[in-house]
Amino acid sequence: VADPAELLALALDTAREAGRLAAEGQEGIGVLETKSTPTDVVTAMDRASEELIRKRLLSARPGDAVLGEEGGAATGSSGVRWIVDPIDGTVNYLYGRADWAVSIAAELDGEVVAGAVVAPVRGDEYTATRGGGAFCNGAPMRVRPAVPLEMALVATGFGYSTERRARQAEVLRTLLPRVRDIRRAGSAALDLCALARGHHDAYYERGLNAWDWAAATLIAQEAGARVGGLRGRPANPDLVIAAPPGLFEELHDLLEPLKADADTDEVEP
Ligand code: IPD
Repeated sequence: VADPAELLALALDTAREAGRLAAEGQEGIGVLETKSTPTDVVTAMDRASEELIRKRLLSARPGDAVLGEEGGAATGSSGVRWIVDPIDGTVNYLYGRADWAVSIAAELDGEVVAGAVVAPVRGDEYTATRGGGAFCNGAPMRVRPAVPLEMALVATGFGYSTERRARQAEVLRTLLPRVRDIRRAGSAALDLCALARGHHDAYYERGLNAWDWAAATLIAQEAGARVGGLRGRPANPDLVIAAPPGLFEELHDLLEPLKADADTDEVEP
């Protein structure tokens, strides 16, 4: 039987090791290839980091499944699935910036029960187990109390397709005059952890993949955030909204009529 605390310990050790490897290789790194669009890049270190993580996890727990950004899926029979982003914030990584992280979540029978997000250049390690609270470098974290939307610092991010970005810019044009300010830091995992830590009030983003948000969503929830999609849906690839209760609903009600979960305003949700 998998114990969430043990899964977290393995996730954290592994993320630390992968983070060290990636940090050592950051200087002078270049683009290995592009993925969905020319802006969607992969570096050799994304691949090397994921390879290390996969080996470590499967040598410790051979029966587990692994879903990784760079390597597709490995199936297992233990009921545990690891969801891995070897470098979240690859563009920051490529430009020598500090805001990138290794993210590892452990899912047990389909529910994320432990998550670690390690940002080695910043020296920040975010962790959570379901029901056990959220921590930054071992210290408990809480989201900020809810403020009205007009007083909220709101973080977001953008996808890689030009069509999607044009739509995201439209949503932002409506949102920007109604909030305190906007932040775009370049790592969805760190955006959710920053929310958990009180570094902004709310976060939303369209078009994420499970590896971007699996670990950090648990961390944000355990720090007191409500995390979900539009119209009562759970957080999903179409839209993730995260904020303390009260502010969540206000942000939701602004994003819903804008169809922030669609690539065109003609799509029926
Ligand atoms: C990206 C980052 C970014 C978000 C993008 C993601 P990657 O992940 O999380 O902040 O806006 O949607 O794809 O490609 O750096 O792992």
